Amino acid sequence: MSRRITGFTPSGELHLGNYFGAIKPLVDEQIPDRSIIFVSDLHALTLDHDPAAVRRRTLEFAAVLLAAGADPARSIFLVQSHVPEHTELHYLLESVTGYGEARRMIQFKEKSKDSDRVRVSLLTYPVLMAADILLYHAGEVPVGADQRQHVELARDIAERFNAAYGPVFTVPRMVNPPVAARIMDLARPAVKMSKSTSPAGTLRLLDSPDTLRHKVMRAATDPGSAVEYDPGNRPGIANLLTILSACTGEDPADAAARSGGYADLKRTVADAVIATTDPIRHRYADLGRDPEAVRKILQDGVIRARLIAGNTVAAAKRAIGLLPA
Ligand code: TYM
Repeated sequence: MSRRITGFTPSGELHLGNYFGAIKPLVDEQIPDRSIIFVSDLHALTLDHDPAAVRRRTLEFAAVLLAAGADPARSIFLVQSHVPEHTELHYLLESVTGYGEARRMIQFKEKSKDSDRVRVSLLTYPVLMAADILLYHAGEVPVGADQRQHVELARDIAERFNAAYGPVFTVPRMVNPPVAARIMDLARPAVKMSKSTSPAGTLRLLDSPDTLRHKVMRAATDPGSAVEYDPGNRPGIANLLTILSACTGEDPADAAARSGGYADLKRTVADAVIATTDPIRHRYADLGRDPEAVRKILQDGVIRARLIAGNTVAAAKRAIGLLPA
């Protein structure tokens, strides 16, 4: 059985899109030594950043992920920069990645277009992401739809390396959740909900119930009054139905058929979002009181991760032609 891995970059705050796109798919199926969940702190250095904020958020993300169900008894749980093999493999993989391939990444194009001081790490972090995945021989990568191109790059890199230097890596595939692979911003349903967009349109996992309700009740809707699941023509309502469906497991079209009108739908969505996030917020409050316990969990994760990662890097170095020390 192959491993599953997913990561979260500590910029902004974790939100419902992160939860349904990647946290829940991983934590619902944790298998000892087969599931890996991590805070990708190195990825937070690709854009202008505040060092103190990255450090604080890294610990906060770890606590939120634990509160959201990451179980150190069943998953390897770690902070990326604590395991030096991530950056070691990154360099080896850069040596099998084309400049043109890296430059074609949509996220690089979008994030670099308005800046005249683009960091080289913004160009190369998808290769680091490939290293994150290939280091642990992960066959499955549960992520949201926005990570498709990055997981495809990891596949290409693995296949190219294996063909050129021998079968070192497992070729990964992306796993999307059945609904909610792309939850949209509540205030602007044409753009995806993200850590960096509008606070009004982003349902944060640590928002209070009142804040969540307020944001849902003010969500942008579509002209007309029919509650129908039609993402192409009614993106605002379709997004609310998607969120409801992700919370309850009900089919979005069935949920639409049961709803009275817009206000009724919004009340139902707010209740479902609060019921989903309430336990996370409560567990987070407990963990937040004991940051040392979170740190201890992260230390254990490093030891377990390095046992796997060290072997992979050694095999990759040997295959690519480096003289053993
Ligand atoms: P990040 O931190 O931007 O997002 C974390 C995860 O949340 C998913 N996601 C969404 N899913 C549904 N709807 C949304 N609106 C939404 N917004 C975000 C993302 O697809 C992602 O799965 N580079 C990655 C982190 C990473 C990683 C990895 C992931 C680093 N190494 C290795 C998997 C494997 C990132 O910045 O994700």
